[in-house]
Amino acid sequence: MHVMSVVGARPQFVKLAAIDKAFRNDSIHHTIVHTGQHYDPLLSDVFFEDLGISAPDIHLGVGSGSHGKQTGAMLAALDDVLANNRPDWVLVYGDTNSTVAAALAAVKMHIPVAHLEAGLRSFNRRMPEEHNRVLTDHAADLLLAPTQVAADHLATEGLSDRTVIVGDVMTDILLDVRDSVAGSPSPIMEELALPEGGYHLATIHRPDNTDDAQRLELLFDSLARVSQPVVLLAHPRLVAKCKEHGIEINRGNLVVHSPLAYPELIASALHARSIITDSGGLQKEAFLLRVPATTVRPETEWVETVELGWNVLAQPGPDLVKAVERPRPADTHATPYGDGHAARTVAEVLTERTPSPSTPDAHSR
Ligand code: UD1
Repeated sequence: MHVMSVVGARPQFVKLAAIDKAFRNDSIHHTIVHTGQHYDPLLSDVFFEDLGISAPDIHLGVGSGSHGKQTGAMLAALDDVLANNRPDWVLVYGDTNSTVAAALAAVKMHIPVAHLEAGLRSFNRRMPEEHNRVLTDHAADLLLAPTQVAADHLATEGLSDRTVIVGDVMTDILLDVRDSVAGSPSPIMEELALPEGGYHLATIHRPDNTDDAQRLELLFDSLARVSQPVVLLAHPRLVAKCKEHGIEINRGNLVVHSPLAYPELIASALHARSIITDSGGLQKEAFLLRVPATTVRPETEWVETVELGWNVLAQPGPDLVKAVERPRPADTHATPYGDGHAARTVAEVLTERTPSPSTPDAHSR
């Protein structure tokens, strides 16, 4: 079986790390295509190095651009890649522009598509990711859902016959990395001379938070008022938007810092009092590390983190400060994201379901 993974953005590299390892263990022929959506070394190369991911076989070098330009450039470049390789499966990850481009390119060439992290929904049509996930789920042949909630969304949309619950592959890597950094100090604590549990770690990058100057000012003012230091790991998109709006991030208790490589991020998160984020991955990672999270969005796809009391949704302003300073929730042993073996299940499911050359075209279902 030959599987081609198409990835391009930071959270996809984390998921790819789990898949690449499982595929190597099962001697699955794995080709990695990097679209180039993320190209800064801190958003891309460090993940391949630190997480031991095989180097990409093909790099499309697409780079940044408006949604149409970026997605269109990927589509155009993928035609030749798919025609030259003809894998048994194209595996697409999550909900970025790289995801929808690869799903669309493959489905039109009658190459079976499997969507990892299928069925997540925010029901917020302002998010580019929501369009990417819905379109990818409806194009794909196999929907690898992380949770029962995700499988239920797919059933509601009439897609249950293509759905398999496999667990969450990000959990596989997070648990490995957590164990490997256990006992090591927090790089952020050391660098900024912060006390154990005496700081909050923040990331903000969603367009709904970064693109409106007034909202961004209010968000920064709220974080500056939190009683302990808030270290904001600034994504290039946030830096670019602050420059465009003429906004200075540092103020009060808010301190800006460049993004961290994955093991450093996890080590710094483990020793933080809480996480403040608009990232899907980080709110789930916070839950898995049992660090309270505050999500600066009106909704979340990872509803289990909220239901279990470890994640609170809050908008910039006094409510955000209150949410960040709330007491730690009661402990839980719940494992809604699986046991850390999701990638192995993905390998099994893909192997079982690979259409043999004699079976009819997967698209004639
Ligand atoms: C993308 C994904 C988002 C994901 C996020 C993780 C889409 C629509 N969005 O958002 O779902 O949560 O990645 O980080 O696919 N930039 C750089 N260097 C880079 C990459 C980007 O400076 O290596 C800057 C550029 O100014 C670029 C901007 O960041 O225009 C946005 O990058 P883009 O890949 O379009 O979206 P993200 O905000 O990173």
